[in-house]
Amino acid sequence: MAARPAPPDHRGAGGPLPRSLSLWARVMSTLRLEDLKQYSDTLRIRHGEALHVRFVEPRDSDELQHYFRSLSARSRYNRFFGAISELPQGLLRDFLQIGERERFSVVATMMVDGFDTIVAEARYALHAETATLEFGLSVADRWQGHGIASALLKNLECRAAALGAEHMRGDTLRSNEGMISLARKSGFAFVNHPDDWKLVRFDKEISVAPKDIPCASWRLVALSRQADSPSASA
Ligand SMILES: CC(C)(COP(=O)(O)OP(=O)(O)OC[C@H]1O[C@@H](n2cnc3c(N)ncnc32)[C@H](O)[C@@H]1OP(=O)(O)O)[C@@H](O)C(=O)NCCC(=O)NCCS
Repeated sequence: MAARPAPPDHRGAGGPLPRSLSLWARVMSTLRLEDLKQYSDTLRIRHGEALHVRFVEPRDSDELQHYFRSLSARSRYNRFFGAISELPQGLLRDFLQIGERERFSVVATMMVDGFDTIVAEARYALHAETATLEFGLSVADRWQGHGIASALLKNLECRAAALGAEHMRGDTLRSNEGMISLARKSGFAFVNHPDDWKLVRFDKEISVAPKDIPCASWRLVALSRQADSPSASA
C-alpha cells in the first residue's frame, strides 16, 4: 500500500495544535504504513495455539470476503447490525485501506489443516477529537469459544495505548450475549447508546505507560511516539 503523505508540519504556525489534530498528526508521523508487516503480533490463545495478528493487506481481499461469507448469518448480523451475505464492494475496499479516514483493519490467522487461515478480524477507528479507539470484531464460528476474541481485544488495547487513545469503545446489539459477556469480562463498562435503543455501548479507560504496554511492537510505537513528543501521554 502506498504510504500516506507526511502530515503537514504545523510548527511555527502560531500556537499549539488543536488536541485532535496533534494526536492524529503524531500517530501518522509515527506509523510506517509502507511497511505494515512490522506491526504483526503473535499471541497465544487458551490452549497455547499461536494466533497471528496483522494489518489487512490488499492480497487478503478474496480471503477476507470468503471469511465474511463463511460466517453464520447470525454472526454476520451481530457484526454488522443487519442482514448481509458478504461485504459490499465499497466496504471491502474500505477494509483494505489502512489508515484512511483514521480507520484500520486487522486479521487474525492460525494454521488450520496446514494453511494459514483468517479466523478473526477487527476494524477500529481512532477518533482523535475524543482520544477514543472505537472497534468491532468477529471470530469465525468454528473458532468461537477458544479465547480468540479475548486475545484480540488485549491486542487492540495495546494498539489503543500506543496510538494515544484514552478510551476504547464499542457498540453491540442488546441481544448479543456473547459480546456483552466478553466486554464485561474484559473490564468494559456499559452505557445506553445515545442514538439507538437496540444497541448498548461499552467503554473502557486506557491508561498504560508506554513502557508497560504488553505487546512488543506496540510498546516500540508508543516509545517512539513519546520520544518524538515527550509531553504526549500514553
Ligand atoms: C462475540 C465473539 C466476538 C466472541 O468471540 P470468542 O472468540 O468466541 O470469545 P472468547 O472465546 O474469547 O470468549 C471470552 C468470553 O466471552 C464470553 N462469551 C463468548 N462467547 C459467548 C457466548 N456465545 N455466550 C456467552 N458468553 C460468551 C464468555 O464470558 C467468554 O469467557 P469464557 O470462555 O471463560 O466463558 C464471537 O462470538 C463473534 O465473533 N460473534 C459474532 C460477531 C459479533 O458478535 N461481534 C461483536 C460485534 S462488536
